[in-house]
Amino acid sequence: MKIIHTIAELRAELAQAPAAPAFVPTMGNLHDGHLALIAQARTLVGDSGSPVVASIFVNRLQFGPNEDFDTYPRTLERDADLLRQAGCDILFAPNESELYPQPQGYKVVPPTELADILEGAFRPGFFTGVCTVVLKLFNIVQPRLAVFGKKDYQQLMVLRNMVNQMALPIQIHGGETLRAEDGLALSSRNGYLNPAERAEATQMIATLRTVKAQVAAARSAGQLDQGAVARIEAKASAALNERGWKTDYVLVRRQRDLLLPTDAELSHGEPLVVLAASRLGTTRLIDNLEL
Ligand code: PAF
Repeated sequence: MKIIHTIAELRAELAQAPAAPAFVPTMGNLHDGHLALIAQARTLVGDSGSPVVASIFVNRLQFGPNEDFDTYPRTLERDADLLRQAGCDILFAPNESELYPQPQGYKVVPPTELADILEGAFRPGFFTGVCTVVLKLFNIVQPRLAVFGKKDYQQLMVLRNMVNQMALPIQIHGGETLRAEDGLALSSRNGYLNPAERAEATQMIATLRTVKAQVAAARSAGQLDQGAVARIEAKASAALNERGWKTDYVLVRRQRDLLLPTDAELSHGEPLVVLAASRLGTTRLIDNLEL
């Protein structure tokens, strides 16, 4: 695996590749979930000659003023070893002055109805930061396909829509969420949890599974409408908060656009997803489950 730090070197390397690459953008501090995305990219390219490129860049633009940009773990050597073992061909790891030589004045602002709900409502500007860096990375890497985890469900949708609306010739693939044996979704931020919090953290997926069961029960009883959904969501938030969590949201939305389903859609089998974000101690965890 080649490790490349500059845009010029990366372009020179990719110019020699027989086909456009597959791309997995990350912020590093990698876990098995990221490595599964690399494996998925490898499978998708098959024997086409497309190299698998990963990037590691902790993107200042997507962190709020009180978030963990400064403390976000930078573990480049370990990450490079993991990527090498996972079959990545090229690691692009630019520093900040390479990617943002001037303050990034041109930004991609995603539409408010998708980007200012759920995560965007609690992390203003987050998706502008994500879209801006991903578009810039896409311009540098010029991949034919890119893989993003479904754990960041809204991010995947925002980026898919950006690619569609901007007519970028890139296929976007979603990677299934990898979970620890006890169900906790793998996340770089799980490393912030102390042992007691790590044990408690399984309540996030337990809550989502309860919501899933309650939605299914209400649906099969012919009683699933917006009121029933609101009651299920409120009970789920309260259950987490009673255990000491500080919940931003537990919301049931349409899979296709993350908007509120109508009563008719709820009773007619519209595909749904429950999404949650809650803080355990100082660590904010997010997860989701398709219903
Ligand atoms: O999901 C992430 O790790 C980041 O949001 C991404 C897509 C690499 C952009 O910085």
